[in-house]
Amino acid sequence: MRIWSVGRLFSPVVAAIILAIGLLVVPATAQEGTGSNPTAQAVNEQQLLNELNKVQGRVSIPDRNAGTLQQPQGRDYQGFREGALPWIGAIFIIGMLLVLALFYFVRGRIRTQAGESGVRILRFNAMERLAHWTTATAFIILAITGLNFIFGKRLLMPLIGPEAFSTWSIWAKYAHDFVAWAFMLGVIVTLVMWVWDNLPDRYDANWLKVGGGFFDRSNRTHPPAGRFNTGQKLIFWAVVLGGIALSVSGLFLLFPFSFADVNGMQTAQYVHATVGVIMIAVIIAHIYIGTLGMEGAYDAMGSGTVDLNWAKEHHSAWVEKQQAKADGRVPPDNAAEPAE
Ligand code: HEM
Repeated sequence: MRIWSVGRLFSPVVAAIILAIGLLVVPATAQEGTGSNPTAQAVNEQQLLNELNKVQGRVSIPDRNAGTLQQPQGRDYQGFREGALPWIGAIFIIGMLLVLALFYFVRGRIRTQAGESGVRILRFNAMERLAHWTTATAFIILAITGLNFIFGKRLLMPLIGPEAFSTWSIWAKYAHDFVAWAFMLGVIVTLVMWVWDNLPDRYDANWLKVGGGFFDRSNRTHPPAGRFNTGQKLIFWAVVLGGIALSVSGLFLLFPFSFADVNGMQTAQYVHATVGVIMIAVIIAHIYIGTLGMEGAYDAMGSGTVDLNWAKEHHSAWVEKQQAKADGRVPPDNAAEPAE
């Protein structure tokens, strides 16, 4: 009887102890390695990223790229886009404006030392002017709309409000995408039209040595030059090579993922944005010298003709060649043949 009662008492106690130990031990071991706990180390996003370099899955929609959630290069690009790029842009563009302002106030306008002769000579024919102004207009639209991508949200949106900024940005984006074709065509025509006049020649070394006479405040230094002087050749090659880099990287962006994967797309963005802001700074210098910086220069692209004295001071070797062609006479300013 006594034995029976101890036995009856023992079994519930043993069962309770076994259960208590089980409750303590089983949950701890059951969690390990199953991956069912979303906060467990096995599914830590950072660990996946470190091991696979990407957080990637499978999607059933046609755009397979949507399956890549995260990748380190994406964050590098974002850092560049939001951090370094606005600084690079601001330093190049504002830096160039400051240098030009300083140059203008210290050096002043580059004058035609001999004054106007009253005789005019054809410098660029209608076809050349059309090509120049097509490329120039396209570039200026691309520059303004491109800068909107970089600075618009920071600088323009606080001024005009989010709704007006959104409407403007949609139009700016379309303008950028469509006007790009006119620019690409312009770059090709510019290259074909002027490449021979922009090859190095025997005047370049001396022109560079005397800085083109740009720093002589008495306006007396006039190094000889052919149709384009060395400074203009540098502008030409910046436009052609920069234009090609912008065009190729721009085509990658116009047709996303057609020629490159996501990393290729990011490379195209780096190239496009960096070359774009540098080229804007270069073109600001070009516009300065073609308008405010040098007396008589604008006429070359405006009416197409320049004063003979201006041509002799800035492009003496070219004038001599033109005069030799016209038997020593001044070539008529309405000549059908453009200056070579
Ligand atoms: C308002 C804007 C612009 C003005 C006033 C302007 C003015 C001029 C002038 C006056 C010339 C002839 C210089 C000479 O007689 O030797 C010229 C040439 C040239 N322009 Fe422009 N331009 C402008 C914009 C542009 C743009 C945006 C580009 C290209 C993206 C460009 C590319 C060129 C090239 C490649 C040349 C020949 C090389 C040179 O003279 O530097 N121009 N421009």
